[in-house]
Amino acid sequence: MKMVSEAQRQHAEAMLEHAMPVIQLVGVSREYASRSGVVRALDDASFTIGAGEWVAITGPSGSGKSTLVNLLGCLDTPTSGKLTIDGEEVHAMSGSELDRFRADKIGFVFQQFHLIPYLSALENVMLAQYFHSMTNADDARRALERVGLGARADHLPSELSGGEQQRVCIARALINDPPILLADEPTGNLDAANQKIVAGILRELHAAGSTIVMVTHDPEMAALAQRKIALSHGKVFCHPVQHVVVKLAQ
Ligand SMILES: Nc1ncnc2c1ncn2[C@@H]1O[C@H](COP(=O)(O)OP(=O)(O)OP(=O)(O)O)[C@@H](O)[C@H]1O
Ligand SMILES: [Mg+2]
Repeated sequence: MKMVSEAQRQHAEAMLEHAMPVIQLVGVSREYASRSGVVRALDDASFTIGAGEWVAITGPSGSGKSTLVNLLGCLDTPTSGKLTIDGEEVHAMSGSELDRFRADKIGFVFQQFHLIPYLSALENVMLAQYFHSMTNADDARRALERVGLGARADHLPSELSGGEQQRVCIARALINDPPILLADEPTGNLDAANQKIVAGILRELHAAGSTIVMVTHDPEMAALAQRKIALSHGKVFCHPVQHVVVKLAQ
């Protein structure tokens, strides 16, 4: 990771300022009712993520990371506040509207890959096409080639290494060209070598313009992102853009 010059930093800041917000939270809270009272898992969060940004969400266990990711991934809705994703107000959507919206807008990469064990790598990617619109084997194969798995398309998940399985997940997340890639501990189950490969793919995607929101406990992974959003007891602390370490040139 190289530090950027002052001119580069200003350029990056200007780009972030003018980037179209893809995600916008205004006073978003998520409360859970529990036997011991109400838990405010996310407390009055307000921030924006611009198109093409790579943001790392960090924080200790129980700080609200999964709660936030579930909201950003349209798997859940806020108790209060306004959440806008790609120009649409999702806080007001019904369950079926959210399902459709999620299929169109979000590519998920999970720590526990969640591949269907009896489908090949290619079929796992095609399943995501099926849920979105129509299957196309050539496109699915190209997505696997993009993550370096062209030669493994017909393998079952059990016939792939952990790193290869995670790359299938990335191909699956990208196949419908979503504006947001949401990754929850994408390297949490990988050894160092595979972590490097997956980090390299995320870097390439970011360089090609993808918006990446990634939860990670790993400082090395977090350091790859342009910006960190730290959570503590449900409160959000966005690190100012001035402290960003941006990699502008390879
Ligand atoms: N369904 C629920 N009902 C009641 N409380 C909940 C529920 N889900 C989460 N919480 C509480 O909300 C807080 C935030 O939980 P969350 O799962 O978002 O944390 P996290 O940062 O993802 O933690 P971890 O790193 O351990 O995954 C925790 O205190 C948790 O106990
Ligand atoms: Mg969690």
